[in-house]
Amino acid sequence: MSRKVVTGSGGGLAGRDPSAKLLEVVDLTTHFRTPRGTVKAVDGVSFVLERGRTLGVVGESGSGKTVLSRSIMGLLPSSNTVRGGHVYYEGVDIIDYGPEQMRSVWGAEMAMVFQDPMTSLNPVMKIGRQITESLELHLGMDNDEARETAVALLSSVGIPEPAQRLDEYPHQLSGGMRQRVTIAIALACGPRLLFADEPTTALDVTVQAQILNLLQQQQKERHMAMILVTHDLGVVAGRTDEIAVMYGGKVVETAPTAALFADVKMPYTEALLASIPRLDLPSHSRLSAIGGRPPDLISPPKGCNFSPRCVYAQERCHVEEPPLVEADSPGHFYRCWYPVGSPTQVEIRARLDAAEPVKSTRAATPAGGN
Ligand SMILES: Nc1ncnc2c1ncn2[C@@H]1O[C@H](COP(=O)(O)OP(=O)(O)OP(=O)(O)O)[C@@H](O)[C@H]1O
Ligand code: SF4
Ligand SMILES: [Mg+2]
Repeated sequence: MSRKVVTGSGGGLAGRDPSAKLLEVVDLTTHFRTPRGTVKAVDGVSFVLERGRTLGVVGESGSGKTVLSRSIMGLLPSSNTVRGGHVYYEGVDIIDYGPEQMRSVWGAEMAMVFQDPMTSLNPVMKIGRQITESLELHLGMDNDEARETAVALLSSVGIPEPAQRLDEYPHQLSGGMRQRVTIAIALACGPRLLFADEPTTALDVTVQAQILNLLQQQQKERHMAMILVTHDLGVVAGRTDEIAVMYGGKVVETAPTAALFADVKMPYTEALLASIPRLDLPSHSRLSAIGGRPPDLISPPKGCNFSPRCVYAQERCHVEEPPLVEADSPGHFYRCWYPVGSPTQVEIRARLDAAEPVKSTRAATPAGGN
């Protein structure tokens, strides 16, 4: 196995045709100043997203997925936020853009579908107006043209009787229909990059797959790049080109999707895999929860920040932070001293399996974590 250390630009997805790059995030940090200290919510994240490609950003609650997305889009409060690094969009570094400059990027270039449609829609504004507003503002359409386009948009996201819906309020629709409306609003100005941040967690299980399929279909039809944020590796499995696994504000493993599932390197990714909800078991049981709690982002643990929870942790893990290194397959990077399949990990796994065959399957024993 090669162990090439990666530094600086490009991170895990370096080496692609530069002309294909839509977004390049380089060593992005996003810290919040709080009375308790500085929260390092995003801590040196780098990746490249090509036009029309999909990236799944996966991690537990608090790993920095939303802050990463909002930081790229410049949607964070400025008062206590300190950002560093670079966000190249179409080759232009937009890290220092203020709200005024970002207005030309929001909607027409980048758009976001949020977790809960009820909070992202205006409850006292008719659905039609919520769509036509941005068409008029960003694309300069007149009212008739904007209404016609809004009907077409609602129809394209699978809303029946779209003309009638324009004059309804969000509360008159079901949760799934409301999320379809927020997707229509996000798509209205033809963005080249769509962020979908846990777009289905507020929805019934039966509707979740429909919404994910809709996003995938729209992404393909529009040749739009998409960043799909989720805590569930199962959601991104068949829907993304690449996956970035986040832990404690860092990308700890990244790879083309098929390569990641074929050869997981990080014990954390392995533990996430073991916690994928199982539809074939009662109440969508999880095989195994990850024991312990996510790291404190103000004073993270020394060494590898997963070490307090990792069943394979050795002395070195508690002292030295592992660098991002490349696996055998191209584009596959991870941060671990004893990756899955390495002699040390195999030996520890064998010992654990012998001692406790069921619990040691993948993750540490549940101890009050998620
Ligand atoms: N404005 C803020 N001020 C201080 N800390 C913040 C702020 N916004 C987020 N954080 C912290 O940053 C960390 C990352 O939060 P983030 O919302 O990105 O997590 P997440 O991975 O999206 O989690 P979830 O799956 O629950 O949505 C958390 O510890 C959170 O408390
Ligand atoms: S570096 Fe050590 S503690 Fe961290 S994930 Fe790898 S084995 Fe576990
Ligand atoms: Mg989030």
